[in-house]
Amino acid sequence: MPLPHAAPSGRFTIGGDMNVTRLGFGAMRVTGPGVWGPPPDRDEALRVLRRLPELGVDFIDTADSYGPYISEELIAEALHPYGDLVVATKGGLTRSGPNVWPPLGRPEYLRQCVLMSLRRLKLERFDLWQLHRIDPKVPREEQFDAIAQMRKEGLIRHVGLSEVGVDDIQTAQRYFPVATVQNRYNLVDRQSEAVLDWCEANGVGFIPWYPLAAGDLARPGSVLDEIAQRTGASASQVALAWVLKRSPVMLPIPGTGKVKHLEENVAAASLELTDEDFRALDAQGRRAGGG
Ligand SMILES: NC(=O)c1ccc[n+]([C@@H]2O[C@H](COP(=O)([O-])OP(=O)(O)OC[C@H]3O[C@@H](n4cnc5c(N)ncnc54)[C@H](OP(=O)(O)O)[C@@H]3O)[C@@H](O)[C@H]2O)c1
Repeated sequence: MPLPHAAPSGRFTIGGDMNVTRLGFGAMRVTGPGVWGPPPDRDEALRVLRRLPELGVDFIDTADSYGPYISEELIAEALHPYGDLVVATKGGLTRSGPNVWPPLGRPEYLRQCVLMSLRRLKLERFDLWQLHRIDPKVPREEQFDAIAQMRKEGLIRHVGLSEVGVDDIQTAQRYFPVATVQNRYNLVDRQSEAVLDWCEANGVGFIPWYPLAAGDLARPGSVLDEIAQRTGASASQVALAWVLKRSPVMLPIPGTGKVKHLEENVAAASLELTDEDFRALDAQGRRAGGG
């Protein structure tokens, strides 16, 4: 593997005017177990964040609910002022314990999310703010309208959605341009295939979360294992290289609390799969995912 650098992953322009390197970073893992409380090794978490610009990563994804608040606070401590870094956050989930994430999409709460995240991240406007979940207890139009108001006020430049279908995106487009969609997607979880295709056709960035997963495909003797052995890469690097090759609108945000893992993940930007390897993995991934 060559030296880790994100640049070979290429670039994508979010919302028509915000150019970022495609391989980004997800800052959910710089927190405690269950994404609750402080990270087990705070200094290492800060080292991970400070290493990002050195590795050419200029797109960071976080959320007010990671910790909660801790991920945003650590990002500000490690990296503010951000220069060319795009720090995208999310709001709309509450936290009441480890691994517990009840959505809350009432307009006044979404407004609080945006204003408090701005304060923690020491920003006056978000380059990209994402609705973490559409709250099923509140009409989605009310949630979109609240976001549209904040966009008009200049608190948010670009808006993203998370865990949505094409119908949600099209409804939201009546309120604001949807710049990105963040859904779970990886080699073996292909439930958002139609959403990804829609994003690609419409120039919308697709941010796959949990991009490193390869599930059973990583077992010894598998196609993935054979490619990893042949290229000298790890299974998660092959999984990430596959996601990057899948679409030019793909903006993966692998996450970790460890510098060693960060460097390994970023090095995957330089791993170029052949078309043949890509297709073999694609077919196996679809079968493993049951579709
Ligand atoms: N929109 C949403 O609803 C949503 C949901 C979940 C996540 N996200 C976002 O997506 C990002 C990525 O998702 P994710 O964290 O679930 O999945 P991921 O990045 O695919 O996997 C992260 C996990 O893999 C481990 N890991 C990372 N690099 C590794 C390596 N090189 N070797 C071995 N293990 C490694 C990490 O542990 P270590 O810390 O030990 O490395 C962590 O347990 C998050 O950070 C967050 O920003 C969004």
